[in-house]
Amino acid sequence: MKSPNDIARLRDEYESRKQRLAGSDLYSLFNTPNLFMIQQRQRAVLQMLKKNGFADLSNKIILEMGCGNGGVLAEYLQFGAPPKKLFGVDLLFDRLISAHQVLSSSSFVNADGQALPFPAQTFDLILQSTALSSILDSALRQAICADMLRLLTTRGLILSYDFWLNPTNSHTRGIRPAELKKLFPNCEYQFKRITLAPPITRRLATVSWGVCLFLENLKIFNTHYLAAIRPTQ
Ligand SMILES: C[S@@+](CC[C@H](N)C(=O)[O-])C[C@H]1O[C@@H](n2cnc3c(N)ncnc32)[C@H](O)[C@@H]1O
Repeated sequence: MKSPNDIARLRDEYESRKQRLAGSDLYSLFNTPNLFMIQQRQRAVLQMLKKNGFADLSNKIILEMGCGNGGVLAEYLQFGAPPKKLFGVDLLFDRLISAHQVLSSSSFVNADGQALPFPAQTFDLILQSTALSSILDSALRQAICADMLRLLTTRGLILSYDFWLNPTNSHTRGIRPAELKKLFPNCEYQFKRITLAPPITRRLATVSWGVCLFLENLKIFNTHYLAAIRPTQ
C-alpha cells in the first residue's frame, strides 16, 4: 500500500505544479500547441477503439485508473459513453472533487490503484493516461497493472497512453512497450507511437500545423505510446 508519505509527496508535486501553472494557458484548448496534441491523441484513441470493436461505447462500463481531475475521462462523453457508466479512481481526493464537478453523474473512488475496490471482471474498458509513468516503484506498477487485469471482462480492453521519454521531469519514469508487455502478461498488444515531442510542438504549432502533422507522422520525434492490450482468449 502507498504510505501517507507517498501520498503527501504526490500531493506536494501537484500543488507546486498548480502554482507554477497559475495564470498560464499551457493546458488550454485555446493554446494552439496543446490543441494539436489533444486532437492528435484523440484521433489515435478513436482509431484504436474502432479497430478493437469499441466504436459503440453506449453499453461499455469504463474505468480510468489515476483519473486526476477527470479531463481524459470527460472526453469519453464526446465518444458516446453514458456518464453513469464512467468510473474514475485516484489517490488524491482533491483531484477527484474537481473530476466530480465536471462529471457529476459519474462515480469516483478515492483509492490506491493496486487495491481497486471493485469485483473482478467489472469493466469493459480500462484506461490509464500518464498515471503509470508517475509511479516510480516497479513493484507498485506491477501490482496496479495486475489489479487492472483482474477488473477487466474477458473480452475487455485496456488502453494505455503514456510517454516513454521525458528527460525534463525527474518525478516520472517513462514506460516502453517491453515493460508494458511484462506488466500485462498473457495479452495481445497493439502499439502506436504518437505525440510529437511537446517542446517541438510548442515551438512549431502556431507557425505551421501542417509541419507538426508531417513531423508526427515521421514518428521519430514522438514521445508517447498508445497501447491497446487485450487478454489472450
Ligand atoms: C499525470 S496525472 C494524470 C491524470 C489523468 N489521467 C490525465 O491524463 O489527465 C497521474 C495521476 O495518477 C494518480 N496516481 C498516482 N499514483 C496512483 C495510485 N497508486 N493509485 C491511484 N492513482 C494514482 C495521481 O494522483 C494523478 O492524479
